[in-house]
Amino acid sequence: MKRYLPVVILTCTLGFAADPPEQAKRGEALFALKSASGYSCTTCHQVGGQGTAVGPDLKTIARLHPRAVVMAILATRTQAVIEISPKGGKPFPAMKAGGDDYFDLSANPPAKRTLTAAEIRKTQDNGDWKHPPESRGLTKDQLADLIAYMRFACFGDTKGVDLADIPNPTH
Ligand code: HEC
Repeated sequence: MKRYLPVVILTCTLGFAADPPEQAKRGEALFALKSASGYSCTTCHQVGGQGTAVGPDLKTIARLHPRAVVMAILATRTQAVIEISPKGGKPFPAMKAGGDDYFDLSANPPAKRTLTAAEIRKTQDNGDWKHPPESRGLTKDQLADLIAYMRFACFGDTKGVDLADIPNPTH
């Protein structure tokens, strides 16, 4: 493609303000799209100013190899989610939100609840919470689109994601 000098300078200076490539644009739309179960990625994650940060910040993981990101998106086991049994209440899957605050992941959108240690009867790893995209039937193309968007929005990557780097989803 023919490039004129002013365009190159503009692109370099603007960096993140460059237009996203098609793959990242599709990923951006998919990131905000609700699945049949009523969740979108934006329900729990924030990328490029879009969405609510309940789950982990995706900046760090966006730099990893696409294979690792796919594994995280489709993982059934979780590290950060715990099951909390409040005294006199129903157990719920939660993610710590700082201090005595937890996000109750059984609500959609997740709701913030404040529970002091004295109000918690028991916590245990995982419980039976599953990361919603695990059962969403995402295709290889959709996974590549999502990762391309995360990379573009988090560090201005415009190279995109090669489908050969995406493992076959096993669902
Ligand atoms: C109901 C809330 C919720 C929704 C919806 C959701 N996630 Fe997550 N996500 C989480 C939580 C909580 C974790 C942390 C899981 C853990 O490690 O315990 C997580 C973890 C991740 C991770 C790994 C992050 C890391 O640093 O290890 C990625 C990548 C990710 N989600 C991407 C997505 C994408 C893409 C979508 C949409 C297709 C999505 N998530 C939808 C809550 C959600």
